[in-house]
Amino acid sequence: MEPAGPLGPVVRPRRLRRTPALRRLVAETSLEARQLILPVFVREGIAEPKPISSMPGVVQHTRSSLKQAAAEAAELGLGGIMLFGIPSSKDATGSRAVDPKGILNVAIRDVKREVGDALPVMADLCLDEFTSHGHCGLLTKSGAVDNDATLEVYAEMARAQAHAGVDVVGPSGMMDGQVAVIRDALDASDASDVAILAYSAKYASAFYGPFREAVDSTLSGDRKTYQQDPANALEGVREAMLDVEQGADMVMVKPALAYLDVVRAVREAVDVPVAAYNISGEYSMVEAAAANGWIDREAAILETLLSIRRAGADVVLTYWAAEAARLLRR
Ligand code: PBG
Repeated sequence: MEPAGPLGPVVRPRRLRRTPALRRLVAETSLEARQLILPVFVREGIAEPKPISSMPGVVQHTRSSLKQAAAEAAELGLGGIMLFGIPSSKDATGSRAVDPKGILNVAIRDVKREVGDALPVMADLCLDEFTSHGHCGLLTKSGAVDNDATLEVYAEMARAQAHAGVDVVGPSGMMDGQVAVIRDALDASDASDVAILAYSAKYASAFYGPFREAVDSTLSGDRKTYQQDPANALEGVREAMLDVEQGADMVMVKPALAYLDVVRAVREAVDVPVAAYNISGEYSMVEAAAANGWIDREAAILETLLSIRRAGADVVLTYWAAEAARLLRR
């Protein structure tokens, strides 16, 4: 029993906060390099890495600087690398996405050759980086995104990425039925080992802003007919459950910070690993505040990533993956 103070007998949680070693003993959540996936951009036809002004510290890689980044990610023990390709020409059907010589497929081959099985190699499976209109799928004559016609292209993309050696494909286009179609396509082309990390609960978010610069997107308008309404959490859980039924090996919630409740709800609803994507705008907000001297940058990075883990994400996609891994080694 505690001595009765002015407040009466008190429980004293502060006892376990007294020293760093005590705090480490009782920490409920861990943050480790293996839980972090590094998203990277590789652009066709550039001679030097090109900085992305709205994402200070992030670049569009050349094929050779990408290989270096992948080798470093492997050396740091990261959980994976997620590749995004930026073709030098775009068209209405995103044909460079399925071309074995297209930048994303070439980059998968390069990175796989560089890191082998030491680092899971993942690729975005979506058309928006490849289409001249910037939508994630094919358009009908009236300009709507055609779900089922798009699925056929996703199947072909999955085959091309598997052929290039990808370990995990990340369908991010939010077409209905995309996971089932991709699973079938992989299984039918001798790629049943390729895993699917499904962007299941992907919201129509304003925080993707800087990503548009990162992939030279030409999108005008929005993605509200296929990405989810930020008002809906239950719907995110339903999307994740549908993807698991269709064969997703892992599911993802995206963005992360404005949707931590959805991360938690999905974690409780499914029995596969859950990822959350700490997206471009979330990165840029911290970088901008830090550049102004308004917050402690490194502390804010680690707190951000820990919060996403605490909400229930098993893995976190973050542009800070390599840096965070280095900070965690200290
Ligand atoms: C779609 C895709 C997007 C992001 C990842 N995959 C853009 C979008 O849906 O508008 C955004 C990632 C980020 O903002 O960091 N291929």
